[in-house]
Amino acid sequence: MEQLPDQVFEQRRARLMDSIGDDAVAVVVGPGMQHRSNDTDFRYRPSSDVLYLTGFREPEAVVLLAPGHDDGEFVMFVPGRDPKHERWEGRRAGPEGAEENYGADAAFALDELDDEIGAWLEGRDKLFYTLGTDDQFDRRVIHWMQSERHRRSKPHSVPGQIVDLRDLLYEQRLIKSDAELELMRHSAQITVEAHNLAMKYCRPGMYEYELQALIEYHFLRRGAEFPAYASIVGAGDNATILHYTENRSRIEEGDVVLIDAGCEYQYYAADITRSFPAGGQFTPAQRDLYQAVLQAQKAAIDDVRPGMGYQQLRDNTRRRLSQSLLDLGLLEGTLDEVLEEKDFHDYYPHSVGHSLGVDVHDVGLVPDNEDDPCALREGMVLTIEPGLYVPADDESAPEEMRGVGIRIEDDVLVTADGAENLTVGCPKEPDAVEQLVGSADPDQLPGA
Ligand code: GLY
Ligand code: MN
Ligand code: MN
Repeated sequence: MEQLPDQVFEQRRARLMDSIGDDAVAVVVGPGMQHRSNDTDFRYRPSSDVLYLTGFREPEAVVLLAPGHDDGEFVMFVPGRDPKHERWEGRRAGPEGAEENYGADAAFALDELDDEIGAWLEGRDKLFYTLGTDDQFDRRVIHWMQSERHRRSKPHSVPGQIVDLRDLLYEQRLIKSDAELELMRHSAQITVEAHNLAMKYCRPGMYEYELQALIEYHFLRRGAEFPAYASIVGAGDNATILHYTENRSRIEEGDVVLIDAGCEYQYYAADITRSFPAGGQFTPAQRDLYQAVLQAQKAAIDDVRPGMGYQQLRDNTRRRLSQSLLDLGLLEGTLDEVLEEKDFHDYYPHSVGHSLGVDVHDVGLVPDNEDDPCALREGMVLTIEPGLYVPADDESAPEEMRGVGIRIEDDVLVTADGAENLTVGCPKEPDAVEQLVGSADPDQLPGA
């Protein structure tokens, strides 16, 4: 699977420039390295917006888009070449590489940005930018606008308005092209295989991190650059902690293991959760909880189609899970009361899903915004991931359900008339899951 061809990036920039108009300039900023501890940095993950518009993967870049500008409408500012630095930190394209390999009309060393920017601000009314994500850069942008205004003789020869770039750029990122979907299918496929591998090799007595290792081993072996987020492997009560990433506990017979992990392939994320019995068989209470989540998950996937409101999808899922919580004896009252009082939050405290793309929580749907009227559209990819979590210390819950967390998550493409499940290759029917768990010979374990 290849990375996206140059024309894809050209088309994305052309479309964005068309949207901002030729009285505007857009500034897109890719951050630098992030410090981890003492002498070490976190591994660099390129800025999603810079990646989306240019394919550029190095730390620190500033991209200008200035439709129709005489000196170039696509301009990059990148760190200058420095052989000594590169010997330590890796190869850099430098301004020459930005022009040659990324198609910039003009490129400069990053330290020339403050001197050069005036030429691209001049004569533009609006500056499109993502205010609020980088305080230091925000101040720099405001400083440019003030200082260039003072420097220029005509008061209106630099932008007077900052406009949020997100509305236009994220509208583009929201709907996936065929080329993007090809990468997303690949990312989904690698992730399906990794989950299947973990289920096959799971045995009570293993540690959560061993399953994490198997999953991430498979991601890397298949060419994915990263996990798209910190992998969650939680056994027993750990599965009831939504963002559990310690992954240090021993997996016991009788535990349900919840794995939420996805790879990032060519910077497109997948995001799958499966929950399965460590010993290969659900207890009746675990199976009841599992079935409740599964039926809500399958019904939500059936709901997915163009025009379906995100709120509706969310509310339908709340309703189905709330009914199950009443049927299972986890909640009391009427369905309307449970929904009205949001009692379901005790066991289902998150949303039904989120957009997926270059980011695992991608642009476009705002899952926690109660008033978001967003409707699904063909070409969107989203996760469907209901769950039920009964903490071990919940004395109001039936004892046999305590310490059980179940989430089932698939990645779904909105098609012309419904949905396509991109992660269908990962079993989720309880009988199929039980059959898969522990089915591999532990002596064949990679590294055994
Ligand atoms: N893994 C993060 C999520 O499911 O949203
Ligand atoms: Mn998710
Ligand atoms: Mn997930």
